[in-house]
Amino acid sequence: MAAVSPPLAALSLLLCGVWSFPLGQEPARTCGYESCHATKPNLLNVHLVPHTHDDVGWLKTVDQYYYGDRNDIQHAGVQYILDSVVDQLLKNPDRRFIYVETAFFYRWWRRQSPGMQRTVKQLVDEGRLEFVNGGWCMSDEATTHYSAVIDQMTMGLRFLNDTFGSCGRPRVAWHIDPFGHAREHASMFAQMGYDGFFFGRVDYQDRARRRVAREQELLWRASSSLTPPTADLFTGILPNGYNPPEGFCWDQSCDDPPIRDDPELEDYNVDDVVTRFLAIANSQAKVYRTDHIVMTMGSDFQYENANLWYKNLDKLIRYVNARQANGSRVNALYSTPSCYLQELHRANLTWALKTDDFFPYADDAHDFWTGYFTSRPALKRYERISNGNLQTCNQLEVLGGPISRNGPFGKGDSQTLKKAMAVAQHHDAVSGTEKQHVANDYARRLAAGWQRCQVLVSNSIAALSNSSAERIFCDNLNISVCPLTESSRKFSVNVYNPLARPVTWPVRLPVNGTSYQVSDAEGRSVDCQVVAASAETRALRRNRGFAINELVFQAAAPPLGFTTYSVSLLQDGPPAAAVRRRAPAAIQNKFLRATFDPATGLLSSLSNLETKQTIKLTQNFYWYNASDGNNSHSDQPSGAYIFRPNSSTPFLVSRTAETEIIQTAVLQEVRQRFSPWVSQVVRLHADSRALELEWTVGPLPFSDDLGKEVITRLDTSINTAEYFYTDSNGREILQRRKDFRPTWTLRQSEPIAGNYYPVNSRAFIKDDEDQLTVVTDRSQGGGSIHNGSLEIMLHRRLLYDDVRGVAEPLNESSAIFPDGLVVRGRLLLSLQRPAAAADAHRPLGQREVLQPTLTFTDGAPAPGARLEFSALQAALPPAVHLLTLQQWDDGAVLLRLEHQFQSRESKVHSRPVTVHLQKLFSTLEVLGASELNLSANQWKDEMTRFHWTPQTGEKPLLKRAGDPSAWEVTLRPMEIRTFLLKVELR
Ligand SMILES: *[C@@H]1O[C@H](CO)[C@@H](O)[C@H](O)[C@H]1NC(C)=O
Ligand SMILES: *[C@@H]1O[C@H](CO)[C@@H](O)[C@H](O)[C@H]1NC(C)=O
Ligand SMILES: [Zn+2]
Repeated sequence: MAAVSPPLAALSLLLCGVWSFPLGQEPARTCGYESCHATKPNLLNVHLVPHTHDDVGWLKTVDQYYYGDRNDIQHAGVQYILDSVVDQLLKNPDRRFIYVETAFFYRWWRRQSPGMQRTVKQLVDEGRLEFVNGGWCMSDEATTHYSAVIDQMTMGLRFLNDTFGSCGRPRVAWHIDPFGHAREHASMFAQMGYDGFFFGRVDYQDRARRRVAREQELLWRASSSLTPPTADLFTGILPNGYNPPEGFCWDQSCDDPPIRDDPELEDYNVDDVVTRFLAIANSQAKVYRTDHIVMTMGSDFQYENANLWYKNLDKLIRYVNARQANGSRVNALYSTPSCYLQELHRANLTWALKTDDFFPYADDAHDFWTGYFTSRPALKRYERISNGNLQTCNQLEVLGGPISRNGPFGKGDSQTLKKAMAVAQHHDAVSGTEKQHVANDYARRLAAGWQRCQVLVSNSIAALSNSSAERIFCDNLNISVCPLTESSRKFSVNVYNPLARPVTWPVRLPVNGTSYQVSDAEGRSVDCQVVAASAETRALRRNRGFAINELVFQAAAPPLGFTTYSVSLLQDGPPAAAVRRRAPAAIQNKFLRATFDPATGLLSSLSNLETKQTIKLTQNFYWYNASDGNNSHSDQPSGAYIFRPNSSTPFLVSRTAETEIIQTAVLQEVRQRFSPWVSQVVRLHADSRALELEWTVGPLPFSDDLGKEVITRLDTSINTAEYFYTDSNGREILQRRKDFRPTWTLRQSEPIAGNYYPVNSRAFIKDDEDQLTVVTDRSQGGGSIHNGSLEIMLHRRLLYDDVRGVAEPLNESSAIFPDGLVVRGRLLLSLQRPAAAADAHRPLGQREVLQPTLTFTDGAPAPGARLEFSALQAALPPAVHLLTLQQWDDGAVLLRLEHQFQSRESKVHSRPVTVHLQKLFSTLEVLGASELNLSANQWKDEMTRFHWTPQTGEKPLLKRAGDPSAWEVTLRPMEIRTFLLKVELR
């Protein structure tokens, strides 16, 4: 253990001026737990943790925050914080600082001189500057998809390891600001090797109970599938959010009195400060369990002038500890979250076990942070598509080889999109809780990233297809815009499938002809259909395209590869499908049948024809009237964070829908128009086992001065008995129950908002016979308020700010939509027997996240071009998902394989499955493989974590059985395994 410098020594160093380490001396590497200051047994040790919370965008953009630009919006400049902190750390070796957001640290580090970099490295090596969390950002937990979170953590942690080696490896996960905590995040953190996790926000009722029961520190068992302790994570709830105790904020942004310790001057206040501090420490100790407590000494963008904080903290420590001579039992010290964690671990206690999550989060009776589950639905969708695009880009960078980065179409890269995606995971980014100009900045970064990737993808496909014809991307197919297909008489479509199994995918292209021939890579003619573009679509694209029709066909793409379809206009082929303006009775394919009520035009039932099950199903659109804050119970309005309807009864958009119906062999659809601002297409493709509901909502009218929160509600004959189910970050499923929390007795004060949960990728309701699963295309909020019912919030437009700092009402418009944003998306409905439901919704969910990338070339494919390609020797087994394939270094690629089923979820697939690493790829020779932790910053065999014992007293389980051989990898339910492969292109 490192010897502690007594606080007085610290002070004398200060008086001697700048402390510096001797030149030329090999720096001592005593980082990590060894560098913690000693504590005093039998005293109450108060761990003072100097820290800053630097949002990677919120009221200002990430770059504005870095430079300290636009201080008129918020005074904050991260570059100055790091400058100032390093300077102050050098003045006293006792001082400590933690840094969290690698997006900022990376920006700063690159601008430092080699001398400054050496100095900082020494601070890190000595544990005086310590990284915690260490991802690119502190991700949101409700609205992020696990795949994007793993990527952003990997990027930040890799930078730290590359720059500082093992002393740069964070030991602790630190999510002090996110608004509720997801179980899947805890599971990921455990698998990333963190020893513990601290956060600041927890439901006020939950906190009250935990304080009394002394359960603010607990063991979170974050997976129901992974064998303990794989997903066990020690979790601590910080005493005061992430702020210092009241009266002890010494930042330049605070007004608390400094410590005035010269007895000869006026206002000497040392006794007063120490007495107040001891009182706070002693009362805090009553609600925690050990002789150690933690205080977060810092807050948002603090430490820009770190001298203020450190000068007062030096004195605080000195004077608090001087009282020990008079019998005080309190010992204050500079510390870090990992040093505090180490003491909790040494205490050798058993800890309360938690198996559910921390959603939803309320900070008061009418203040549920459940609005942001849906806020900014267009940004949420753009982020989700961008994740898919990034995976495609990463894969093609590997498969195409170096030419993909510098080829016939110029220089492309995946790095720009990686960074854009990483900042988009921040808890004020994809969450939708930033100011409008900042939301625009996140979207702009994603667009710039995708542009760079498009060059890479073009180069890679050129290499793989042996054709350097110009490749055109149509990013606006969702609103039926693609200049090439709108005007060309002959073009080809390359369909790249990033999944490790074949996919059939409905391609839908804007065209102006009425009849086309589509042929596949073998030249065989493919069933296709031309249908009229709907009036809603034409209104939505607002002069950005002019197609009157859409061409629809099913593309069948091979695993991890592409196929090519050729499309040509026919002179005198059959006409476009008839659009009948009449009440529909039913649409049906060989798997599903959906019926409609002819009187209302609404869905009335859904049948699975394979399993012979039918449920009653009515679906309609409603809106909650957002509270404006003028309310007898509380003045809380609905806003970017908070959902607070004025009434628990939503308003119907319309009792009936005007309908049109199209019934062809390729597809069937019922187009429903509910109002000028709500329409929907209920769609069934020939070979689809899911019913598609494509909704279009907006601009939400507000001439009535009412903020609107639009939902769609599915009312079914399923007997849900108050239960429903939602996913956690797109992975494991959690059970939800109306007006209920698994770990405390809930006093429900918001019957709607208090029953909303994040629906990241899916939600379902079920009884013994039927399970209806809804797969979403982005994160949304949802709930089950009535028996048999499931509602999903689609869009929000609000007139008031919800007083959580963003200081803008959530009222989105844009140049193209000055009258308010219109959002389009889709829900996929799957009806199954409960025991087989996962077999359907797991692959459906992955397909929705990793959609094929379509690229177009004008004219016929070049002669000699390769029209079909797969990088795999064979499709992976149904249980295995290829989560990551990305270039790491020259000759090395990162591979993540995931078992996509939970244990007991599927009769067929919930069992271990083995794959052979050398038999995966047809185009890559795998020469070597080393296993890593989930975030790829530690070799698996070097990964050791603190062991924590739950109060249940159970013994640690037997070691997991090994793999059959060095090349054969066994995946158990919900396992993700990460490998660095040494490869050569075949
Ligand atoms: C921790 O506690 C257990 C059970 O109370 C005891 O057997 C063990 O020796 C303790 N370990 C240490 C390091 O004190
Ligand atoms: C981390 O960095 C160290 C030092 O550069 C290196 O030896 C180690 O292999 C890196 N770890 C990983 C997992 O890349
Ligand atoms: Zn924050």
